Amino acid sequence: MLRKAIFPVGGLGTRFLPATKALPKEMLPVVDKPLIQYAVEEAAAVGIEEFIFVTGRNKTAIEDHFDHSTELESVLQAKGKMEALDLVRAMVKNPGAVSYVRQQAAAGLGHAVWCARKLAGGEPVAILLADDLILGQPALAEMVAHWPGGNMVAVMEVEAEATGSYGIVTPGEDDGKLVEVKGLVEKPDPKQAPSRLGVVGRYIIEPGVFDQLDKQETGAGGEIQLTDALATRIGAAPFHGLRFSGERFDCGSKLGFLKANIAFGLARADLAEPLRDWLTQLR
Ligand code: UTP
Repeated sequence: MLRKAIFPVGGLGTRFLPATKALPKEMLPVVDKPLIQYAVEEAAAVGIEEFIFVTGRNKTAIEDHFDHSTELESVLQAKGKMEALDLVRAMVKNPGAVSYVRQQAAAGLGHAVWCARKLAGGEPVAILLADDLILGQPALAEMVAHWPGGNMVAVMEVEAEATGSYGIVTPGEDDGKLVEVKGLVEKPDPKQAPSRLGVVGRYIIEPGVFDQLDKQETGAGGEIQLTDALATRIGAAPFHGLRFSGERFDCGSKLGFLKANIAFGLARADLAEPLRDWLTQLR
């Protein structure tokens, strides 16, 4: 049973300055919804009951986004804007279902996840990185459907020259969808990369990963890497990669973020036609 999800939102988002000076990167909107809301909805869709945010600076925007806004709600009510009212009310989770823990220094993704260890409480947890946005079939639902227990990461083929931006898997048994992970290395040089199967921001981890993170070992970039902790669990717990079907956009990069806005806009019935018309006229 997977009941809890961690959303690490403590990164500095330096590639998106100045937008991220006072706003977490995960609050940037794709069309009309912040990145973090897509991730929360993906988790809720698989039955996640506890939502754990690991925040850094500027966390208030995220806390406010998932809470009641009494002033806004009463204005919408008074104006009879019931659709908008339903929309903002639907985002508020059950009392006690959302927790926030502060990552006091941006010491890496592994460190962010470790900060949530007490809230994980010895259970397997999902981890969703909101800046990896997936269009089409939600990746976490596919992972849960194929999860044989243990650790699991979402994987996709990446460009040979891009291995230095991903955790890269050494594949074992592979049925085209589910692939056994026999090794995992963070950001290898293309010449040393064991494959082109890269990890994107969806994980299911078993409690043993937290024991490894307790050791606070640093890896690539001097940061505490989640992939390094996962790699040490190979042999101790089952470990699989899942090739997800949707299209992933790296919204941590400007180009990926712009592409996501266009692709998600084109997928919207209310925007597709005028947006396509405008795009075809561009030179
Ligand atoms: P990134 O590697 O994209 O780093 O983090 P970043 O700081 O967010 O962005 P740039 O590179 O400076 O532009 C990947 C994910 O891990 C989280 C981020 O919030 C993002 O979801 N993260 C990273 C943390 O929560 N804490 C960290 O210390 C590092």
